[in-house]
Amino acid sequence: MSTTITTGAELERLKRADTVPEVHELIRSRWSPRAFSSREVPPQVLKTILEAARWAASSYNEQPWRFLVATKSDPAAFSKFLDLLVPANQSWVKNAPVLIIMAAKKTFSHNGSQNRFGFHDAGQALAHLALQATAMGLHTHAMAGFDHQRARTELGIPDDFDVAAAVALGYVGSPDDLTEHQRQMELSKRTRKPLNEIVFGASWNAPLPL
Ligand SMILES: Cc1cc2nc3c(=O)[nH]c(=O)nc-3n(C[C@H](O)[C@H](O)[C@H](O)COP(=O)(O)O)c2cc1C
Repeated sequence: MSTTITTGAELERLKRADTVPEVHELIRSRWSPRAFSSREVPPQVLKTILEAARWAASSYNEQPWRFLVATKSDPAAFSKFLDLLVPANQSWVKNAPVLIIMAAKKTFSHNGSQNRFGFHDAGQALAHLALQATAMGLHTHAMAGFDHQRARTELGIPDDFDVAAAVALGYVGSPDDLTEHQRQMELSKRTRKPLNEIVFGASWNAPLPL
């Protein structure tokens, strides 16, 4: 199957989620590439994508998310971020034009108590960011594979924040620029658990008749 993909449009078609019932095109079209093109992300596009993240919902409207952003236009910053990633991620992220590291505030600003949903809400902000990027013809790839402790120290992330995900952002590139293993993952269909495995009725494992 992999050898039949020759154009970007074919790749996007292959990666589009097969959903039943059909969901919004934007959700079907988001996927996490490893092959990024070196095409720069214009500042206004980057700003729009971050603005979408800003409008995510959060517990007490705390907005616990923070985004540290390095672009290829600042090579020193980009290499500093890249160097935090595990080698398996570095090998493909090096081609992406933008690298983001997210943090999530652990406490509520209004009373200082623990915010159990800081990470959760940062995840929602990431989903907004990813869908806005998709709507604008870009893609994101979130990563847990980086040195969180070094990120904290080297990027000056305060103790009151959890280090959350790293995210590569940019335009899709050619799968042929990847290693063979990565190329195979790039050219495989996306899969999910069936709905009845993740959705229950009113008690655990009870089926929801839909
Ligand atoms: C929090 C988080 C951490 C992830 N960490 C990595 C990672 O370190 N390396 C990687 O190649 N992909 C990583 N992924 C990407 C997932 O493997 C990917 O989202 C999943 O396989 C579903 O594919 P899709 O996003 O194309 O639908 C991560 C995704 C998320 C949301």
